[in-house]
Amino acid sequence: MDVVRTPLIAGNWKMNLDHLQAIAFVQKLAWSLKDHDYSADKVEVAVFPPFTDLRSVQTLIAADKLPLHLGAQDLSPHDSGAHTGDISGAFLAQLNCQYVIIGHSERRADHHEADELVAAKTLAAVKHGLIPVVCVGETAEDRDTHGAAKIPVEQLRVVLEAISQDSDYVIAYEPVWAIGSGTPATADEAEEVCAVLRDTIANSHGQERAESTRILYGGSVKSGNIAGFMKRPNVDGALVGGASLDVDEFSAIVRFPDHVTLD
Ligand code: PGA
Repeated sequence: MDVVRTPLIAGNWKMNLDHLQAIAFVQKLAWSLKDHDYSADKVEVAVFPPFTDLRSVQTLIAADKLPLHLGAQDLSPHDSGAHTGDISGAFLAQLNCQYVIIGHSERRADHHEADELVAAKTLAAVKHGLIPVVCVGETAEDRDTHGAAKIPVEQLRVVLEAISQDSDYVIAYEPVWAIGSGTPATADEAEEVCAVLRDTIANSHGQERAESTRILYGGSVKSGNIAGFMKRPNVDGALVGGASLDVDEFSAIVRFPDHVTLD
């Protein structure tokens, strides 16, 4: 039986847009999608604002019944307690966050997050009913030394060992050298690693879980290259950074089925 994986286009705003800017942005995005007859059945859209914006964006999505999902950019591995500055998955769930990004390479680098912490955060997300978007990816040096897939596979294995096979999760393959560089992986490179990641899921969590799990590509995704990635069988969406901050560009990425000829 062929499983249909609804593509997910996820906008990772990183540390951009305060809560007032976020409201204006989400309103414009919703208008743009509506103008272009966006259908949530074909492509799912999620935005990942900074923590301080979440309540404002949640209220807007609920009040105007916008066809957008909400996610956070990180969470604590703990439920509550003496962890100054951290945010519990329970709080995110209360804000109707559906997703949470975990293990982004910027957190791995800026906050020295090791695979074990990424796994603990993933477990916390699942526990609180959030869908983790677990990021894995190799640096240019890793790729030159070991090839592209080795490090992402190792990072993924640690996470898969920590969670049960019936957990709902999304994987984002983000080569570190492609993030914010303007030099994306080629669609073939992305497909190759995403296929290996799917095999890794199959080995740990079974074929059925592997076939139903969405694997995104991230790293310099734009409206001009998204179609090429989305044509590949193992790429089920994109985690978009810079281009998710431009309404027209992000809206065009969401509408990739309309411009498949652009790549
Ligand atoms: P980019 O970022 O699209 O700006 O390369 C992607 C990401 O970091 O998730």
